[in-house]
Amino acid sequence: MNRRENLLQHIEIGSLLDSSLEKMLANKFQNAKIAILVDDNTHEYCLEFLITNFSQLSNAEIIQIPSGEESKDLEICVQIWEALTDYRFGKKDLLINLGGGMITDLGGFVASVYKRGISFVNIPTSLLAMVDAGIGGKNGVDFKGIKNQLGCIQFTEHTFVDESFLQTLPEIEIKNGFAEIIKHALIADDKLWKVIREGNGNTEINSDLINRSIQIKMEIVERDPLETGQRKLLNFGHTIGHGLEGAFLEINPISHGHAVAIGMIGEAYISMKVGLLNEDDFNEIKCLIFAIYPNVKFSEPLKKEILNFIYQDKKNQMNKINCTLLKGIGVASFDNYIEEELLVETLNYLETL
Ligand SMILES: NC(=O)c1ccc[n+]([C@@H]2O[C@H](COP(=O)([O-])OP(=O)(O)OC[C@H]3O[C@@H](n4cnc5c(N)ncnc54)[C@H](O)[C@@H]3O)[C@@H](O)[C@H]2O)c1
Repeated sequence: MNRRENLLQHIEIGSLLDSSLEKMLANKFQNAKIAILVDDNTHEYCLEFLITNFSQLSNAEIIQIPSGEESKDLEICVQIWEALTDYRFGKKDLLINLGGGMITDLGGFVASVYKRGISFVNIPTSLLAMVDAGIGGKNGVDFKGIKNQLGCIQFTEHTFVDESFLQTLPEIEIKNGFAEIIKHALIADDKLWKVIREGNGNTEINSDLINRSIQIKMEIVERDPLETGQRKLLNFGHTIGHGLEGAFLEINPISHGHAVAIGMIGEAYISMKVGLLNEDDFNEIKCLIFAIYPNVKFSEPLKKEILNFIYQDKKNQMNKINCTLLKGIGVASFDNYIEEELLVETLNYLETL
């Protein structure tokens, strides 16, 4: 069991059966009401393991919502708040979020707002949630098509990362989560990048990749939990990525990881254009990402939509686009303000690939 603890966050990586979950339920939540939030898939594939192995969860209320990003929506929050109210949940009760990033983002937001905040535990079941969404305290929902437009930073009571949930995760979702591992390597760890590069497009997962990825994210979050500075490094690939994800959401949704992967090529291209990244490194990044993910094609009207979504990015200031860029492989810099012309040039470039 690899345990990382600090003031803000408790994360355990390893089998849930060897974790402190049982003790925590028996001690801190002995007399608490417990609800488990799942989507259709985690209801089918992950829930039984939890309720059969942890006796205190056998009577938990189960709140099931449809799978998919469309559920990361205020209307679904309202339904969950109604259910918690009907169950007479109080300040001392507990919400367990069992699922991918959609569930951990939404469930964390629901719990943080209900009665000004109740405890919640994340048990991430997708790769993306294990290495990124389920850790680090960012919660929220999409609003008016804009990613994470409403949300808060609130840390979990505890997060349990148990890789065995990945056994039922579709291959395409492994690739989706792999993008965030690539991001962590590019912004902070050239050795991890070399390991990934040697795989030459192979996205096979092992504990080392998961552990190292979580470690990188948590080291950055611990230094800047409220994202006043360094935490923005974690947004590499996400300025363009969120633009793509938002623009495609209504017509032909693409996964978060796929959007971020193409976003990373775009933002590495910008890094090269402004003289921070050399051409060889840029080409290496582009080749590796394209060995895993297909490019995304968009029409001229959709390009305008992508730009509109990029202008909604929370990091922007005074209508200037704020981008995290690479200074090399494993080294990033935040708060770079980009001219719209360069962004348009980058979208045009992505189209040619
Ligand atoms: N809070 C953060 O810091 C942060 C960071 C990165 C991404 N995110 C958010 O995370 C979300 C994406 O997360 P995601 O990719 O996990 O999406 P997701 O939660 O929609 O999961 C992807 C799919 O996998 C299914 N699934 C999950 N676990 C499974 C399992 N063990 N077996 C079978 N199927 C399973 C889900 O039902 C879903 O169909 C986006 O909304 C993104 O904005 C948040």
